[in-house]
Amino acid sequence: MKNIFKLLFIIFIFTCALYLLGDKTVSNKNEKTENNIFKSIPTYKEENNERYIKFNNKNKDLTIDEVVKSVNINLDINFYENIEESPNKNTNLILVNKHYALDKDYIPNDLVQVDYKYTSGITVYANKEAKEKFEELSTDASAVGLNIKAISAYRSYEYQKKLYEEYLLNDPKEIVDTYSARAGHSEHQTGLAFDVYNVSSPYTSFGETKEYEWVKINAHKYGFIIRYTSSNQHITGYKNEPWHLRYVGVDAAKHIYENDITLEEYVLNNKNS
Ligand code: DAL
Ligand code: ZN
Repeated sequence: MKNIFKLLFIIFIFTCALYLLGDKTVSNKNEKTENNIFKSIPTYKEENNERYIKFNNKNKDLTIDEVVKSVNINLDINFYENIEESPNKNTNLILVNKHYALDKDYIPNDLVQVDYKYTSGITVYANKEAKEKFEELSTDASAVGLNIKAISAYRSYEYQKKLYEEYLLNDPKEIVDTYSARAGHSEHQTGLAFDVYNVSSPYTSFGETKEYEWVKINAHKYGFIIRYTSSNQHITGYKNEPWHLRYVGVDAAKHIYENDITLEEYVLNNKNS
């Protein structure tokens, strides 16, 4: 009998200990969440928490808001490391860059040929909606005496691979990576990117033309953004490409233009994404 009481007493003590321990774990967890300084930032993402902590430790001069936003756009990861699948596939907001890739079988829906009138005789395919908006842009530009034609839009994975390999014959990889995407990492594979020129000078001189001056202040009205500029090279990894226009839709383009941000910031630092 005495032994039974002893046993019951031990079980009682053991249960109490477990209860108290459990309660402590919960309160520790709550404390950690409550004290999480990053959580107050609207674009906080739970899955990035450890990265915020690491990035913050390495960049003490940044505000908490800057830390969260920088990590969300992957500034803490080297280009072409930890590659993930592109978000927003088959939408105008698909994100393809040195962190997000398309597989070699990805062919966008809705590819159509751009009318020869808007390419000066070159065969170019693009996303249907983007193609229609590009033709509108080109028509409105010609109404004010400007010539804006497409020289390249959709490029397959294989074609991009071939281009990149050809560039490697002339330049080292570190240089090629500043002007050409590796296969699977080019926006051209989405059918939403257009390289444009004014026909009388090579597309690489587009930045010096009056057509470019017009594009800078008007492209967003047609849903296009100038994707690669010298000021966003730290985010995109590419040098200035005044000729590379990316279709994102009119609302997104207007927001990106008015706030002077990148597609990365628009997609990844959006409260709702
Ligand atoms: N020139 C751009 C970055 C591309 O290759 O997609
Ligand atoms: Zn391009």
